[in-house]
Amino acid sequence: MFSANDCITNSWFLSITTAVIIFCNLCYAFEENNGSFPEGFFFGASTSAYQIEGAWNIDGKGENIWDHFIHENPMRIVNNDNADVACDSYHKYKEDVFLAASLGFSAYRISISWTRILPSGYMGIVNEVGLKYYEDLIDEIVKYNMKAVVTLYHFDLPQQLQKDFGGWTNPKLIDIFVDYSRIVIERLEKVDYWITLNEPKVICNYGYGSGEIAPGLKYQEFECAKVVIMSHAAVYRMYKNEFPNRKAKMAINLDCEWFEPKTTSSKDIAAAQRILEFEIGIFAHPIFKGGWPKAVKERMEKRRLMENSAISQLPKLTEKEIEFINGTFDFLGVNHYVTQYAEDDSENNVGRKRNEINAGVLVTVDPPWNKNSLGSTVAMWGARNVFKWLKETYNNPEIFICEYGYSDNGTTLEDNERIRFSRMYLSAFHDAIYKDEVRIFGAMTWSLLDNFEWTSGYSSHFGLFTSIKMILTKRGFRRSQHSFSRS
Ligand code: NOJ
Repeated sequence: MFSANDCITNSWFLSITTAVIIFCNLCYAFEENNGSFPEGFFFGASTSAYQIEGAWNIDGKGENIWDHFIHENPMRIVNNDNADVACDSYHKYKEDVFLAASLGFSAYRISISWTRILPSGYMGIVNEVGLKYYEDLIDEIVKYNMKAVVTLYHFDLPQQLQKDFGGWTNPKLIDIFVDYSRIVIERLEKVDYWITLNEPKVICNYGYGSGEIAPGLKYQEFECAKVVIMSHAAVYRMYKNEFPNRKAKMAINLDCEWFEPKTTSSKDIAAAQRILEFEIGIFAHPIFKGGWPKAVKERMEKRRLMENSAISQLPKLTEKEIEFINGTFDFLGVNHYVTQYAEDDSENNVGRKRNEINAGVLVTVDPPWNKNSLGSTVAMWGARNVFKWLKETYNNPEIFICEYGYSDNGTTLEDNERIRFSRMYLSAFHDAIYKDEVRIFGAMTWSLLDNFEWTSGYSSHFGLFTSIKMILTKRGFRRSQHSFSRS
């Protein structure tokens, strides 16, 4: 039986659903191919464990770096929000999967919470309840004939590993990540696509470089990049060696922003290329081509000289390591949200974000560009250009768009902006496929539900579905501490 709130929630579900179906199927005619995407193209929705599951200390789950970061520093999250309950998907996963299926999606992306399986992060206690939870969740996805896309690591490192080893900057993590991944892969036989790690740039640049997100450490982004990329390669190689009969494909998932040269000057063109290499190439180049990108190596050497330092911040990759990482992909996972301008600023060593200083680039935007509630700027031509660049730079890999999406601040129930943005993105993807012949085989929107948007808490809404509690909050009701519940 529905309570009054449930009724309101459900009618909201319906209006969004209707809108989404309309925008996906009816609204527009793309020029090519009668407006359709290729046969078998996957449409889906993406989520991640920490952002939706809640149940942070239930059924044997251990503490991870985000639990720790938030509980120790509640002020670092907008409105002091936390993800202790989040969307309560740990208990309501069947409802989530039903919602995704009800939109006609053919793929649903989740991530595994490492400490739900291995509470301390290490082998030792393997939490059967955690494994069973994900087994049941995947059964539910498969029941609706959706492809199960599963990320092994989406930002939530076991706190014990951070405490004992310093987390992703320590090469010891490589084997430990392989041990954890093996247990998960062994048990979850029905997965269709494995993502090893989500957005390594965010893990390293903001978790271990600027310190904005958990674990909140600084100045170690390049050590992190090496450990993360080696960990990806080690899991890929373990998977291919130990599970030769599995059909599921595996890849890393990179966040790929587009940087357009601010002017046609050769310096700005080089600057745009350089920041693309720093943001995407530092992870993609070792996997798709071998070794660090030349532009990154050159620039980091220049930075070393500018800082009068004996050692470069960029760790060396040995020939053996280069070979080990090279070729560890079945496709490329891409998250795309943002377009910005890049301008040469290579002589200036201060006053900008760390990654801009590292790359020697000044990043700006055009005021009229569309913005989401996080201030990220989106341009349709940028979305198209980034895929063309990926195709040309990495020898035309198959691409799965694991995330694209739009956030609002939750003050409206009308979904026109989300539809407008989604339309823009989908139209760009369509152009990339039919005009630029990029081999994109699926696109999953972020996100199914309004959820815990990291340091923005619940203030930015990316979901196709929202909850009555979030709506009420925006109308002046008191936000409960654990603010999200669908019903
Ligand atoms: C990418 C991340 O994978 C996801 O966790 C985040 O919520 C979205 N971007 C939106 O910022």
